[in-house]
Amino acid sequence: MPQTGTGAIVTPAASAARGVGAFNVIQLEHAQAVVAGAEAAGAPVILQLSENAVRYHGALAPIAAAVLAVARAAAVPVAVHLDHATSAELVADAVELGFSSVMFDASALPYRENVRATAAVVERCHAAGVWVEAELGEVGGKDGVHAPGARTDPGEAADFVATTGVDALAVAVGTSHAMATRDAVLDFELIARLRAAVPVPLVLHGSSGVADGHLARAVAHGMTKVNISTQLNRVFTGAVRHVLGADPGLVDTRRYLGPGRTAVAAEVTRLLGVLGAATVRS
Ligand code: G3H
Ligand code: ZN
Repeated sequence: MPQTGTGAIVTPAASAARGVGAFNVIQLEHAQAVVAGAEAAGAPVILQLSENAVRYHGALAPIAAAVLAVARAAAVPVAVHLDHATSAELVADAVELGFSSVMFDASALPYRENVRATAAVVERCHAAGVWVEAELGEVGGKDGVHAPGARTDPGEAADFVATTGVDALAVAVGTSHAMATRDAVLDFELIARLRAAVPVPLVLHGSSGVADGHLARAVAHGMTKVNISTQLNRVFTGAVRHVLGADPGLVDTRRYLGPGRTAVAAEVTRLLGVLGAATVRS
């Protein structure tokens, strides 16, 4: 199946009040696991590469080639997205390589500068047919420090979307990135007010810190794209640790990365069920 446009996955899901799982890839095994999990769920899915992951690999092109190939070979619709890019050059590279969407994250800038920088990226991406997500009201924890305090103002969010022309908006409603416990406290009333004020799909970042029931409630209140990274790494590392702990003589990397990949696939299938993401078979 050819790579699917991110808008073609997210827009109908927003209209139907379904969630869409957007899972971060670091190694090839993450991409394979996410697609296997989505195929088992019969759900479309978004594979995303963050600027941090690109920094880890030292370049975008090699890991992007692998992720795009995995997406094209999938039996369900898969979109490939650039996550948390702060560099306009990296956005341009992703567009050139064939990503269907990017997140340009200027949320650390003052409001007017965020608007100006985001609008410029939107203009260039839309000219290339690429869908753009931006962030307003900085979601904490990008530096690894749990910081759930930021909140996005609905009026400012509506102005931001109208002025920049973004296709989706990441908002701060109580989550924080990189949480290893699933006990974040979400402001559901704010999610509903943002949904009413903002005409484009809303994106929940830092979703690994949110318990299953609250993820489903967040979708019911108006969240659509749900970004999950840390939870997959927790599951992957747990499986690897288990295998290595049971056999100190093991040296073949396939013997522990394989079980990590299998465990992540099952977790993706489970999470897509929580988000009510399946449409492919319906
Ligand atoms: O953009 C990626 C997500 O917001 C990841 O959040 O650390 O809670 O998995 P997480
Ligand atoms: Zn994020």
